Amino acid sequence: MAILFYSNEDEGDKTLNAIRSCLPTDQIENWPISTDLAAIKYAIAWNVPDRFFDGLTNLRAIFSLGAGVDHLLKHPALPDVPLIRLSDAGMADKIADYVLYGVIRNHRRFDLYEQQQAASVWQPQLEIDTPNYRVGVMGMGVIGSRIAQRLTNSGYNVCCWKRTQSTESGISTFHGSNQLPAFLDSLNALICVLPLTQQTHEIINQSLLEALPPGAHFINVGRGDHVNETDLLASLDSGHLASAMLDVVVSEPLPSGSRLWSHPSVLLTPHIAGPTQAELSARQIAESINQFESGKTPPGIVDRKTGY
Ligand code: OXD
Repeated sequence: MAILFYSNEDEGDKTLNAIRSCLPTDQIENWPISTDLAAIKYAIAWNVPDRFFDGLTNLRAIFSLGAGVDHLLKHPALPDVPLIRLSDAGMADKIADYVLYGVIRNHRRFDLYEQQQAASVWQPQLEIDTPNYRVGVMGMGVIGSRIAQRLTNSGYNVCCWKRTQSTESGISTFHGSNQLPAFLDSLNALICVLPLTQQTHEIINQSLLEALPPGAHFINVGRGDHVNETDLLASLDSGHLASAMLDVVVSEPLPSGSRLWSHPSVLLTPHIAGPTQAELSARQIAESINQFESGKTPPGIVDRKTGY
C-alpha cells in the first residue's frame, strides 16, 4: 500500500522514519513524487504545499501531524475524504507542563522577581492563596482536559468554557457565548487551547479582554489567529491585562517589527509548547490506517463544518 508524507518541520526525517518502522510492509513516499500518484491511499500532512494533493485520485483519508487541522482546512485543494487529527500522542502532557509553568510564574510572581533582580530590588510580593487563584481553560478537548486536570492537581481553582453544553467531571463548566462573560468575570488567568474555527477566529478581542478582571494573565497555546493582536497589545499597554505568554502568534515566525517582541509584559516562545512526538504519533497514525484497512472507523475524525 502506498502512503504519501510531507512535513515542513520533520527534522532529520524523524517522524517519516518512525512511520516507516510502524508500517514496514507499506511504501511510505516523501513528497514530491512524480509517479504512481493514483496508487496513494493515505496522506500524512503538516503544512503541505498547494500542489500536494494533485493527482491523488484514490485517496482514502488524510492524517494531520498535529492536533490542529486548521492548516488542512484552509488548503485550497483539500480532497473530500476523512480528515484525522492527532489526539494527544504525547502532546497533552507537554502542553500541560507549559501552561502550569506559565500559571505558576504569574501566580507566584516570578515575572516580577525577574524584573526586581534586574533592578537589584529585594521585595517579597503578596500572593493569592492557590485555592483562590482562578484559572479558566477555553477548549476542553484532550489537551484542554489534561491542562485542567494538571492545574486542579496543583491546587488551583479551575473552571472551563466550551462551545457546547456538557459537564466536565469535577470542574465548573460554562458553555456558549451567553455564559462567556460569567466564565471570564473572576479569572486570574485565562488559557486558550481552542481549535481554530470560523467561530473562534479572533475570539480573544477587545470585548473579551475587557470582560476579564483587571490584572488577569493570558496564556495562548491554541493558534495565533484566536487573538486580535492589536486588541491584545492595547489591553497590555493600558495595564488591564497584566501579561501574556504566547506560544503561537498570527504570523509565524513573528515578524521582526512586531511590538510583541519587546513588550515588557509579553513572554514569547516559538510554538514549542507541544512538539509532535515522532514515535507516539507514528504509532497512532499506523493504528488508524490499520483500522481503515479493516473496515473500522478510527478515532479523531474531524467534523469539517465545525472544525472540532
Ligand atoms: C498542533 C500544533 O496542532 O503543534 O499539534 O500546533
